[in-house]
Amino acid sequence: MWVFGYGSLIWKVDFPYEVRIPGYICGFVRRFWQGSHDHRGTPESPGRVVTLLPYSEWQTLSDRDFAVHQRADVCWGVAYKVAPKDEAWVRAHLDHREKNGYESFKVPVYHPLAGSDQPIVQNAMVYLAGIENEAFLGPETLDHMGVHIAHSRGPSGQNYEYLFGLYKSLKALVPDFPDEHVEQLTDRVVQALKDNHAFDPSMLENPKFDDALGELREMSIWTHERLQERLDFAHKLEQAEESLAA
Ligand code: SIN
Repeated sequence: MWVFGYGSLIWKVDFPYEVRIPGYICGFVRRFWQGSHDHRGTPESPGRVVTLLPYSEWQTLSDRDFAVHQRADVCWGVAYKVAPKDEAWVRAHLDHREKNGYESFKVPVYHPLAGSDQPIVQNAMVYLAGIENEAFLGPETLDHMGVHIAHSRGPSGQNYEYLFGLYKSLKALVPDFPDEHVEQLTDRVVQALKDNHAFDPSMLENPKFDDALGELREMSIWTHERLQERLDFAHKLEQAEESLAA
């Protein structure tokens, strides 16, 4: 089983996996439009976390700060290969972690070194919170969302830590493909925290993420050979696992 993470699943990996490979999926726009009652906010005062909107659906909503989506419909993240022996546990764990409005779907994952007509993973599971779910908050201006995220907190911690974790991970993983929404929202949150005399530059250098960031940075400079090596390794594991199961 493969899992594709595009939000906290990029930088908060609390499940076992055998191989991880950076990649992107097509046809979706990443936005901080999902309410969080259980992690970065409360039922009375939900925080804002990311979900993916199918590009055609995003076009029907009014995204006030982005009339045109910058990078068509490409969303970067990380694909994880989970061993068959861990699948049931990981599935149950992620279903619970993503229970506040997310449902799982299957998507192909691509990598630029492999070409846009050749997915590196055919069917990765991705968690997406659709516009019909009860916790969906929907579009707001960046200024409004910035203040909201600066002030929300829930059982998993400050809402801004979630945004900053994603911001730092994407910068490490795909420095050449900035996510405009995440970057501009980070600027607004920093401003809101500064306005409240609550900003400290170390918030954007949290050592907690350093190990993971180092690894993500390394993935960002992979060569074609390195990607192939990783894909071959994943393929060999899959073959061995299939023959064990047969
Ligand atoms: C994901 O990271 O892939 C899903 C959204 C989240 O848990 O932040």
